[in-house]
Amino acid sequence: MTKRSNVVSSNQSGIHKDLEQIVKKHLSHPYKKPYREFSEDIFHQVDEIQKKVNKPIILDSGCGTGESSFNLVKIYPDNLIIGIDKSEKRLDKLIKDKTVYHEDNLILVRADIVDIWRLTKKTNWNIKKHYLLYPNPWPKKDQLKRRWQGHPIFPEMVGLSDQIELRTNWQIYAEEFKFALDIVTNKKTSIDNVDIKDFISPFEKKYYESGHELYRVVLN
Ligand SMILES: C[S@@+](CC[C@H](N)C(=O)[O-])C[C@H]1O[C@@H](n2cnc3c(N)ncnc32)[C@H](O)[C@@H]1O
Repeated sequence: MTKRSNVVSSNQSGIHKDLEQIVKKHLSHPYKKPYREFSEDIFHQVDEIQKKVNKPIILDSGCGTGESSFNLVKIYPDNLIIGIDKSEKRLDKLIKDKTVYHEDNLILVRADIVDIWRLTKKTNWNIKKHYLLYPNPWPKKDQLKRRWQGHPIFPEMVGLSDQIELRTNWQIYAEEFKFALDIVTNKKTSIDNVDIKDFISPFEKKYYESGHELYRVVLN
């Protein structure tokens, strides 16, 4: 049996008081950190494949072991699924010596998603939907900048696709993500509970089996 995971505990009791100001600052000061050279090399490999496959893309950012990306292939058979994770350990079943794995409508990539998001923007990939499944919550008050909504890349990341779906087991993460989306875009956003039929990812399964509430924020 898998070990039960603890519910997220935090010294925050609601949306972080600095979030609004931070998101607005990031909106008016685009993120300028240079990309790493190896990220550009990886990006070009993926870009060549996506040009050949030539289907609208579903991005699975922080895909962990890649299981969620395989599940997304079944959900979206007419799309190209690109799963990205920086962790060698998580993707090591499929990606051994290389950084890119490709089969049919699936690409798995070992890379830093922040660099890939920024490179993606430059080449205008046709991203239909962007999944962010169970990102690390970084629940301490002083970790706000490590959550996606507090990261300087947030406004640029939101601009990559028309649709976004974030899933999390921490209600405050979901509320903050929606709050930040509402600052950056005037499109419709919603929060609801994840309706579990089939688990989309290993973390979803682990949290569900540990009895946690699961939330999803959707931008349409
Ligand atoms: C809590 S795990 C969730 C994994 C998977 N999405 C799931 O639901 O099972 C978060 C994942 O995000 C990845 N991650 C965090 N920051 C990243 C970054 N900057 N670039 C790529 N992957 C990142 C981590 O390596 C980790 O595998």
